[in-house]
Amino acid sequence: MALQASLLPSAITVHKEGNGAFVLKNVKSDFSPLLIGTKELKRKPLMGPIRAQTATVAPSVKEATPDGKKTLRKGNVIITGASSGLGLATAKALADTGKWHIIMACRNFLKAEKAAKSVGITKENYTVMHLDLSSLESVRQFVDTFRRSGRPLDALVNNAAIYLPTAKEPTYTAEGFELSVGTNHLGHFLLSRLLIEDLKKSDYSQKRLIIVGSITGNTNTLAGNVPPKANLGDLRGLAGGLNGLNSSAMIDGGEFDGAKAYKDSKVCNMLTMQEFHKRYHDETGITFSSLYPGCIATTGLFREHVPLFRILFPPFQKYITKGYVSEEEAGKRLAQVVSDSSLTKSGVYWSWNNNSASFENQLSQEASDAEKARKLWEVSEKLVGLA
Ligand SMILES: NC(=O)c1ccc[n+]([C@@H]2O[C@H](COP(=O)([O-])OP(=O)(O)OC[C@H]3O[C@@H](n4cnc5c(N)ncnc54)[C@H](OP(=O)(O)O)[C@@H]3O)[C@@H](O)[C@H]2O)c1
Repeated sequence: MALQASLLPSAITVHKEGNGAFVLKNVKSDFSPLLIGTKELKRKPLMGPIRAQTATVAPSVKEATPDGKKTLRKGNVIITGASSGLGLATAKALADTGKWHIIMACRNFLKAEKAAKSVGITKENYTVMHLDLSSLESVRQFVDTFRRSGRPLDALVNNAAIYLPTAKEPTYTAEGFELSVGTNHLGHFLLSRLLIEDLKKSDYSQKRLIIVGSITGNTNTLAGNVPPKANLGDLRGLAGGLNGLNSSAMIDGGEFDGAKAYKDSKVCNMLTMQEFHKRYHDETGITFSSLYPGCIATTGLFREHVPLFRILFPPFQKYITKGYVSEEEAGKRLAQVVSDSSLTKSGVYWSWNNNSASFENQLSQEASDAEKARKLWEVSEKLVGLA
């Protein structure tokens, strides 16, 4: 069935597929949720749905004082990319509980300060620290600065990302990696590998490391099936350094495609979470999680997209696919993964149904490939100078 959406230009038609999903035809787009609603092919909860809670409650922990008495302290959470969108909304949701101090790890100090003020996060509940994930040197400096602050680390949220769907040529990080994968995956990989030592030392009762994933990297979803599809191949481009000179700028060794590079980076995020779980969960008790928070069509993630896309995307998601979630709701979801005592299971990719109930979602075959996760880990640790 094809219907002409009144909101869309006549060149673009909306088709309803047999399975109930909506597809836009006659427009080339590379961000799947514009084309396809976020209904998933396999959305089978592995356990009973857990009701989402609007208020997030951090476990209260006790810390020894010199006189032996115990005092309550706030949890400390680092959120990368907390200057806008999902990261900012999560910072706000956690700060509002009064139980968390947020370290806003951001590349633009002033923007982060203004953002915190604009949503009403009070000064005692946050600290802005500089972090540019497109520079491994900056990642190391950030870790150093954080350690010098003397704060324990109780939760790390790898949230920041860039999406360059209209780029015709690759651009590169300070160390010469293609920018999307270099920022979204390699920067976060180094950050997490370094900060796992800090998480291990924390006396907090529920320590967590979270890497934000996406439906667009999962080819077991309708959204993940819109070309260009995520595909890491045999990682030959990544192994070659992702530099576009003596190796491809794409992980699979193919031709540069900015939309695919983003989706590939999200597969890396979800594989990395699972490899962390496998290597560290039993030994440390840290909970490792990933999530798809829903389609937050209004965030700055789409800033590089064509203007028509940016105009149509939010109403399309709100009124046609119904896959839209507000930044506030998405922030509450991620805040649950940080602090809700019902989401302590490690190695899980969380999603939410239309009633905002969380459930353990299934990852695509590639995003749950244990052998690929191991190889990705080994290649990545060489690239970031850890092996
Ligand atoms: N929007 C969605 O529909 C959606 C759906 C699924 C998953 N996600 C995921 O949600 C996460 C947040 O995205 P968003 O939608 O909230 O987008 P956003 O508003 O653009 O937020 C991205 C954040 O990342 C930061 N960032 C970008 N490059 C950086 C760098 N080199 N170093 C440090 N920080 C950097 C940005 O900083 P500046 O403020 O300085 O630009 C910004 O704070 C991403 O992981 C994304 O993949 C989003």
